[in-house]
Amino acid sequence: MRLKIAKLPGDGIGPEVVDQAVKVVDAVCARFGHEVSYTYGYVGACAIDRFGDAYPAETHALCMESDAVLFGAVGDPKYDNDPTAKVRPEQGLLAIRKQLGLYANLRPVETFKSLVDKSPLKTELVDGADFLCIRELTGGMYFGEKGRKDNGNTAYDTNIYSRAEVERILKLAFEYAGRRRKHLTVVDKANVLESSRLWRQIAQEMEPAYPDIQVDYMFVDNAAMQLIRWPKFFDVLVTENTFGDILTDEASCISGSMGLLASASVGEHTSLFEPIHGSYPQAAGKNIANPVAAILSAAMMFEYAFGLMDEGKAIREAVAASLEAGVTTEDLGGSYSTSAVGDWIASKI
Ligand code: IPM
Ligand code: MN
Repeated sequence: MRLKIAKLPGDGIGPEVVDQAVKVVDAVCARFGHEVSYTYGYVGACAIDRFGDAYPAETHALCMESDAVLFGAVGDPKYDNDPTAKVRPEQGLLAIRKQLGLYANLRPVETFKSLVDKSPLKTELVDGADFLCIRELTGGMYFGEKGRKDNGNTAYDTNIYSRAEVERILKLAFEYAGRRRKHLTVVDKANVLESSRLWRQIAQEMEPAYPDIQVDYMFVDNAAMQLIRWPKFFDVLVTENTFGDILTDEASCISGSMGLLASASVGEHTSLFEPIHGSYPQAAGKNIANPVAAILSAAMMFEYAFGLMDEGKAIREAVAASLEAGVTTEDLGGSYSTSAVGDWIASKI
């Protein structure tokens, strides 16, 4: 197969971890006989520095003509403490999600046998936990009308969802639940928020079409507790944009490190694959960041964008072997560098 990949490393540790993912993609393509080519795109703070725009039109054009996007991270501390900044690196990520129509963000939470003791949670709670968080990605407060009034002294963000937006993400969630353990948890705040009541109403309307799926509804505050109290309860969890952002950072603790969680963003145009972690500026350029989340995002790329399941599996097995062999970065207590972990996994493949 010919694979045309847009590489958007972004800021901070993004370039270092994406380099490792690329090594691994190259190794998989060599082993399975695929021909791969990459194009490079600017996004985030580096794109602002160069083009004055966090997601320039040329980057969008190359994403649209690629088969998949491998994304690193965006963000730069120089913007974080400046609430008046007009352009922000994060706008690049929001723009790419919106313009590619990536309405669903799939964040699998798995545990690795060799790492169960690295989780801040007790081993018996995390051992065997395996669920999929589906986060709505192009609606809600992130994209609703926002602004200031009263001379800037009052601020608002609107949590808005249309029926069409809710239906398409719930449909996907029902379908994924059908392919897994047939248990779907819809997370909302329907006791307070009107937008959540629409989500719940639509989910209830859809239930009869999926008679083999057990559906339950959980308020987000309770879900935040249940995730760490008994993570094995969950199979597929679906929720809106903001709740999904928060709950998946929390869920990353279950695996042992945020540096392990991969994601796929899918929707109308080219799918995008990115680690759930941020740009971790304190570690940028130090060759210490964990590349596993980026590497597992590449595994998701083979599976979700190309339907190449054996290729994805080869990456997963090599990652599991590296963890078992103790070839890990410092966040997991190891002493390997980012590039050494990437080399090890690529050569294993
Ligand atoms: C994520 C990130 C982004 C988000 C930021 C960088 C805009 O935290 O992908 O989870 O909030 O969606
Ligand atoms: Mn986040």
